[in-house]
Amino acid sequence: MKKDQKLDSAGRDARVLELYEQLVEVEERLIPTGLHIFGKPSQFNEKTDLLRMLASFDRPEIGTRALPELIAEGLGVTYSRKQSNTGFTEHELTIREQIDAFAKESIEVFLKSGVDDAISFLDRAANVNLETSTALFLMLADVCQKLETNNEIESLIRALRAEYIEPGPGADIVQNPQILPTGRNTYAVNPYLIPSALAYSKGEVVASSLLERHLTEHGKYPEAIALVLWGLDNIKTHGEGVAQALWLLGVRPISDGLNRATQVEAISLEQLGRPRIDVVMTVSGIFRDLFSPTVQLLDKAVRLVANLDEPAESNYIRKHVTEQMNSDGCDLDEAAVRVFSNAPGNYGTNVNFMVMDSQWDREDTLGDLFVTRKCFAYGRDSTGRSIEGREARLAMDRALSRVEATYQNIDTFEIGLTDVDHYFEYLGGVSKAVEHRAKSRPAIYLSDSLSRDVKIRSLEETVRLETRAKTLNPKWYEGMLKHGFRGVAEIESHVSNTFGWSATADAVDEWIYSEVAETFLFDNSMLDRLRDLNPHSAHGLVQRLLEANGRGYWDADDNKLKKLREIGRSLEDQLEGIVPEPNVAPGF
Ligand code: BEZ
Ligand code: MG
Repeated sequence: MKKDQKLDSAGRDARVLELYEQLVEVEERLIPTGLHIFGKPSQFNEKTDLLRMLASFDRPEIGTRALPELIAEGLGVTYSRKQSNTGFTEHELTIREQIDAFAKESIEVFLKSGVDDAISFLDRAANVNLETSTALFLMLADVCQKLETNNEIESLIRALRAEYIEPGPGADIVQNPQILPTGRNTYAVNPYLIPSALAYSKGEVVASSLLERHLTEHGKYPEAIALVLWGLDNIKTHGEGVAQALWLLGVRPISDGLNRATQVEAISLEQLGRPRIDVVMTVSGIFRDLFSPTVQLLDKAVRLVANLDEPAESNYIRKHVTEQMNSDGCDLDEAAVRVFSNAPGNYGTNVNFMVMDSQWDREDTLGDLFVTRKCFAYGRDSTGRSIEGREARLAMDRALSRVEATYQNIDTFEIGLTDVDHYFEYLGGVSKAVEHRAKSRPAIYLSDSLSRDVKIRSLEETVRLETRAKTLNPKWYEGMLKHGFRGVAEIESHVSNTFGWSATADAVDEWIYSEVAETFLFDNSMLDRLRDLNPHSAHGLVQRLLEANGRGYWDADDNKLKKLREIGRSLEDQLEGIVPEPNVAPGF
């Protein structure tokens, strides 16, 4: 919205509500307040937020219900959950706020004085059924006890002695608290059970919200979407990303006589109520290795849809495959390749290394590198012969040239867009590759299944949210600084990862760089702290900001640049051991 745009009173109220909702969104995020230290149990102050998040999900497998819903039932109201991109009403937000306050207080009571006091607090304050709240708080008590048990060092020593380590599931703690205690030998999933029924039903809501958002913003469904699938994420969610891809194509998985999801069938166009979307999938090397049957399932889904006798305007895969066969004179096996990964035995896109080392002149190079690394096709051809990483650069170029939106699902509470360089190497890398090949920057979306509210965000919105929740949030950076040298390195790494989103997707507002400079470098006492703890990373931070300016991502004024260069020079001196000259009296 432009600054000078006048709003009437209803418009102002709507704007205030929207801003309020954004603030609540930052507040509700689980913000890590430090790093995990190997061998050390987690700290008390992290626990309230973690337990609140754990308590916000129904867990039918262990017979517990979500705390907000229990409180709502006790109060005789409804706790509104988002099922699409539309915002909450003021009334809904007020009720959510009251319920969240009761939930938070009950968890604080529990941490201070135990299960009995927490459930009687909820009984008195919100008339919550004692039996259901007892089950929930006993689960939380079990989690707390296991958080305090830490077998990590002992297990490491046992592993070094080649002794047996008890196994445990690999997942996100909020998705599955059964991962505790840590220090066990994690196992993954049976790929034949992917996607799970729950993941498939969640996939429908997310895929519809994604398409709905594109329709609202661009007036049409995207004909083709490029999406990124990671192995660990699909382990944690039992295949939510896979389910979303199947929904976009308009197919459902079918299990064979051995209960293995090896077949697919088309959902009718009537039931789907929208066209089938062309999905270009980039799967990580880890996904390719762990989910070989799933790779086959996805390829099978694409081929099934390409062969359906449906009109072009309802089946974009068929439309594009037919167009390509006609224009290139190629066969269906060439035109229908949609599952891409690295060459066998290779991993990663290397886009992150190129960005971090500043080894690129034109941004197109980053997209080209992505395709060079990821243009290997997986699946089966029409004769049923397995394709295990056939180089298919032209097929990938063609498929990406039709893409209008790129997308990735985030499904962990612990790792977000700016925590690691992998999100920008994948989603940023593919977006940059599309931009050059489609001659237009795609719309870039992320969803998160972090809370029970479905939310599709643009990349720009997600970068802003991550920056406000972490990089520029004193709660986050003070937590990091407690770790000394490593903490400063984390701050620098967040800024570098943010820079990665400028390089690959031009998705970073300039205020973010300005605020980073103000918070960490132009505040003298903070600069002194960084300088003492880790001058290498402080210097890296200065260099990254100067690079952001040099590459046109941050239009800083001359004064700021001068100040940055001076700080950079003094940090260099410090690193080189040059002590500032003392005032020496003339004549000596
Ligand atoms: C994966 O789980 O597939 C993955 C993990 C780290 C970086 C990239 C991909
Ligand atoms: Mg710009």
